[in-house]
Amino acid sequence: MSKPPETKQDPSKYPDVLIEGHEYDGIKEYDNPMPGWWLWIFYATIAWSVFYIAALGTGWIDDYDAQLERGIERVAEKRAAHQEAQPSEAVDVDEEYLAGLLDDDEALATGESAYRTRCVACHGAQGEGGVGPAFNDGEWHHGDSLMEQYRNTRDGIPAAGMPAHDALLSDDELSAVTAFINTF
Ligand code: HEC
Repeated sequence: MSKPPETKQDPSKYPDVLIEGHEYDGIKEYDNPMPGWWLWIFYATIAWSVFYIAALGTGWIDDYDAQLERGIERVAEKRAAHQEAQPSEAVDVDEEYLAGLLDDDEALATGESAYRTRCVACHGAQGEGGVGPAFNDGEWHHGDSLMEQYRNTRDGIPAAGMPAHDALLSDDELSAVTAFINTF
């Protein structure tokens, strides 16, 4: 049998002691001490666990709730920063802006499709009117400026049976459909 590999430890201090009855397929084991570096790491983990349990939740080491709270704060900060970085998409709707849409094909197409779903039943497929007044006769009973038409569409004219559309159409659609009803 070959000699066991030499260890760096002093053999007089640590004589090789075979572990009795520990033999498997001819493989035996010495009862040698753990290497010092390994033991120190092991003791360090025990010391750390004592410190960890004592310090947990005292502000030195955050517990789960504190970590969660900080995470939520960070998400809120990121959201706010992101929102600030986004240019606001809302446009100021005014007479000039609405007039600009009168020859904006894309807006008129958007307006037409909103008209077909939301307005046609009362104002007619050709704007000829029905339950609501006609749009193709050039007459306006509730204000003929584009802004007045826009407000009448958005807020409705409840007393006259014209429903509000602010919850039914997006801002873009409201502007676009206002332009569209001037194309009949
Ligand atoms: C439920 C039926 C109904 C629907 C749907 C409806 N309207 Fe009207 N609308 C009316 C009635 C009724 C009036 C007011 C009639 C009056 O006072 O003579 C009116 C009036 C208006 C006016 C004022 C007209 C004027 O002569 O000054 C505008 C503008 C208008 N509607 C736009 C729209 C648009 C745009 C839509 C679709 C987004 C729409 N309406 C959908 C019934 C409707």
